[in-house]
Amino acid sequence: MDVSELQTVEHDILVIGAGGAGLRAAIATAQQGKSTALVSKSLLGKAHTVMAEGGCAAALGNVDSRDSWEIHFRDTMRGGKFLNQWRMAELHAQQAPERVRELEEWGAVFDRTKDGLISQRNFGGHRYPRLAHVGDRTGLEMIRTLQDHGIHQGFDAYMECKILALLKDGDRIAGAVGLWRETGRFIVFKAAAVILATGGGGRAWRVTSNSWEYSGDGAAMAYQAGAELMDMEFTQFHPTGMIWPPSVRGILVTEGVRGDGGILLNNKNERFMFNYIPDRFASETADSEEEANRWLEGEEGARRPPELLTRDVVARSIRAEVEAGRGSPHGGAFLNIASRREPDFIRRKLPSMYHQFKELAEVDITKDPMEVGPTLHYFMGGIRVDSDSQQTLVPGLFACGECAAGMHGANRLGGNSLSDLLVFGKLAGDAAVEHVDKSSSKPATADAEIAAVVRNATDILNREDGKNPFLVHEDIQESMQQYVGIVRSKEDLETAIARMQELWDEVSRVKAHGSSQFNAGWHEALDLPCLLITAEAVARAGLLREESRGAHTRLDFEGEREEWGNYNIVVRKGADGMKVEKIERPPPPQKLAAIAQASLEELEKNG
Ligand code: FUM
Repeated sequence: MDVSELQTVEHDILVIGAGGAGLRAAIATAQQGKSTALVSKSLLGKAHTVMAEGGCAAALGNVDSRDSWEIHFRDTMRGGKFLNQWRMAELHAQQAPERVRELEEWGAVFDRTKDGLISQRNFGGHRYPRLAHVGDRTGLEMIRTLQDHGIHQGFDAYMECKILALLKDGDRIAGAVGLWRETGRFIVFKAAAVILATGGGGRAWRVTSNSWEYSGDGAAMAYQAGAELMDMEFTQFHPTGMIWPPSVRGILVTEGVRGDGGILLNNKNERFMFNYIPDRFASETADSEEEANRWLEGEEGARRPPELLTRDVVARSIRAEVEAGRGSPHGGAFLNIASRREPDFIRRKLPSMYHQFKELAEVDITKDPMEVGPTLHYFMGGIRVDSDSQQTLVPGLFACGECAAGMHGANRLGGNSLSDLLVFGKLAGDAAVEHVDKSSSKPATADAEIAAVVRNATDILNREDGKNPFLVHEDIQESMQQYVGIVRSKEDLETAIARMQELWDEVSRVKAHGSSQFNAGWHEALDLPCLLITAEAVARAGLLREESRGAHTRLDFEGEREEWGNYNIVVRKGADGMKVEKIERPPPPQKLAAIAQASLEELEKNG
């Protein structure tokens, strides 16, 4: 094939993924005068960012002035079971307030306190009301603001364009090959720096809050290009997704419902979360209905209700109730806010939830409980990056937002994703600009490499026959749902890995019928290798980590094991397949370790 005939564009920086992280990175690079391409697999604004409904965590101290970056940092490390990259958690907690205020200057319309400040709500694992929010549509408002501000910064947006592979010049990044979904034509991007902001890989599971775009593309492409993945065993199951009717299974029910007072009940009408309070959080969690009610009424000193324990704990508890035969009719729990709040309050603070249940499930949440259950929501793991620059092992390749690893450790606190993407989107953008400025020569792309990517893609259309890609995707989802769920065992994980080896064979032989123009089957087939790399990395890392920590629960290794607190697991591409290895964590800076271990009283006094 003649590569010179392909559409080719050249930019200083290519940003792949146009959710919150990609948009924030592109704003940073374009503002600094760099020619920037922002590529979206679907449409601008159609991103998983909108699924962070309840708010953006930042220690603004507007609702409780005792809050500080140190306490936010401490909560984040405790929530992540101390496996987070210390420096990332520090940068995040320190810079989140500035990023939120900046968003306000760019036009984001946050809910307000009585004094006119940005209002903040409670969320699981956050000591104080910390989530800046816009009802239950915070992610949507953030995307709207970033988009509106961003398009005036001068980046070029390429929509409905799937990136198929990254290109390299020797060791360093040189660009990428993409496919226009509508026309089926290919496009070559030449760039001295590439920022991946592609989100997670939730579509590898059957029950997920993720939409079709989330097939682990960034992690898979980085892996193929020689970068490492890290912490892949930690996949977050949000405790509350819709479970009924089947057509809406997995759709998110914001943690804001619990933050605003909603309680979880089993089929015996028992508030079961009181039975699942881990020792680590016992001193901060109410152990009786009376105390939890006093907290709801705002009583000083009352401890937080157990529904606001971290997501890993709540998701496991719902599962345990179901296993014990105390689940709701469709295999979950009841989430009730109607008994705690007036209808007006519910409609004002949770308008999307109100409409979502009314329209999709015919439930009026101002009167009746919601039926909810865990849904795969977020990847704590992803591409391994340098904490300050967000650069991967590949020079010129950066990653930020959900597709990057390190910030959240073993479990992410709700609301920390929106602040993560603002903080690290900007840092990745700044570092990419610096990289371009320091590069003495432009990287070159190789025609043979580009031709191979194109041929690989068109083979799927050109072969005589093969398996239906949609069915292969379903097989991946069944394996992950069944064997790599909230709880895992050696046997299950080995079964999943064995099944994936068979699926690799099927993926290499899938056939898409029809032409190259807007061919959904072809697009599905092109996503499959990314889904499978991501899924295999999760299963292999999960098999190696022989303990239960955060979102990774092993039935055969109960509880945290101290020695495992010293290791992260990395995944890299070897000559003969996927390599998984544990790497030792460097000791934390003394100052940060002291903050993480300090008592709240000490931090409040010093703050
Ligand atoms: O429950 C939620 O609103 C989700 C927030 C998040 O994942 O950060």
